[in-house]
Amino acid sequence: MRTKASRQKTPIVPSESTPKPASHDSAAPQALLDFMLTGWKERRPKVTKVKGAENFAARRKALSAAFPGETLVIPTGHEKVRANDTNYRFRPGTEFYYLTGNVEPDCVLVLEPKAGGGHKDILFVEPNPGRSDATFYTDRNKGELWVGARLGVQESEVRFGVDEARGLPELPAYLDGLGGGVTRPSRVLRGVSSQVDHHVRAQHARDRELAVHLSEMRLIKDKLELRELQAAVDSTMRGLEDVIERLAFAQSEREVEGVFNLRARMEGNDVGYGTIAASGCNACVLHWTRNDAKLKPGTLLLLDAGVERDTLYTADITRTLPVSGKFSKEQREIYELVLEAQTAAIAAVKPGNDFMEPNRVAMRILAEGLERLGILESAEEALADEHQFYKRYSLHNVSHMLGLDVHDCAQARMENYKYGKLQPGMVLTVEPGLYFQEDDLTVPAKYRGIGVRIEDDVAVTARGVKNLSENIPHTVKEIEGWMASVWKAAKKKKR
Ligand code: GLY
Ligand code: MN
Repeated sequence: MRTKASRQKTPIVPSESTPKPASHDSAAPQALLDFMLTGWKERRPKVTKVKGAENFAARRKALSAAFPGETLVIPTGHEKVRANDTNYRFRPGTEFYYLTGNVEPDCVLVLEPKAGGGHKDILFVEPNPGRSDATFYTDRNKGELWVGARLGVQESEVRFGVDEARGLPELPAYLDGLGGGVTRPSRVLRGVSSQVDHHVRAQHARDRELAVHLSEMRLIKDKLELRELQAAVDSTMRGLEDVIERLAFAQSEREVEGVFNLRARMEGNDVGYGTIAASGCNACVLHWTRNDAKLKPGTLLLLDAGVERDTLYTADITRTLPVSGKFSKEQREIYELVLEAQTAAIAAVKPGNDFMEPNRVAMRILAEGLERLGILESAEEALADEHQFYKRYSLHNVSHMLGLDVHDCAQARMENYKYGKLQPGMVLTVEPGLYFQEDDLTVPAKYRGIGVRIEDDVAVTARGVKNLSENIPHTVKEIEGWMASVWKAAKKKKR
């Protein structure tokens, strides 16, 4: 295209302010940059409030009440380099997201104390310069034509319902103005953004109290969170069905992972954690995410996977499936023992019980079962605190909190989490397992190499427990029936 700008004699040098192009790309001459700035239709983006804006505002208010008179700084973090100039897909910081609903990288939420009490919330975001400077075309990290448009300052104020939004270029001076947290008492959620951490002197004990508080706020889920977790579980069930359909001809653990992850990207933001597609004796490795083995007929596939919604709530479900559709006698024996432990553990989830009660219940059943199978000499001896021999086969505890993070509320104090009481609104996993390593001489040869875990996501209710993953088949009969019916339906679809 011939234009006035392109006919002008201009030196072929990049503008001073232009970010450097990558090694394989060319710098733009000034004439092109000038040309890029003209001839665009005016835009008037319609900005809508983020879903759950009232929930996010209520959380900011609750946080404000807990730290009167103090400035609170909560960053979301930045994109991380995967290799050279390519990054991993950005996932917002959990605490920042919990308070804002904003998924853009680099942003920082500040709660600034007001003279009359309470806080003003200020959201620092990347400005969207539109076509007003050439960065939309030249900046490969932030430019609209490279990575899509950022929402912008005014728009963020409306969308996230904060008192004020400001551009990120103002943040360093703002943080310096806190006088290292001495002039103005302040706390920072540390370890999320090194840029923010550098600007405010660390006060480790005080900063830690902020992190703990943010984790403990998340122990009890509100109605919106419970709905999101249920939806994440429902998507995960569809992902499991995709995998079962594929198992009719799948060759490898990789294929299983890919099929599940496709569902996660179709219905959600991503998987909530690396999918564990562990077949055969790989099932005895708790976090087997290498997923590089071939599937062998007659073995079990332990699939531990969860869809993370666009709202970032994740499911965490495990089902152990017979690759060929039927459990062998030995696989079934172990499966039914784990299921018995899991069923009893779920029944022990109720308000007032302590968090470890489901674990104690499950471990007693597993230990007694291991004694019956001739693997433990004595369940009583194995269960004694000074022995805990059953752990050679059960390896891990049965529960963790679930929410925005798969292992949610990780900074909560022991007395409020591990040694605390279960309360309505808590959501946790119940996931006992038995793992017989291939080379374990204490285990009869017929059981070696079998690994079984069964994991459900449950919510504590006023009266007891609601199993969010109740609809995902549990028993041997249900699992075999489920696989057969998925395969039958797939065959019909083909015809
Ligand atoms: N889903 C893996 C775990 O809970 O550790
Ligand atoms: Mn889990």
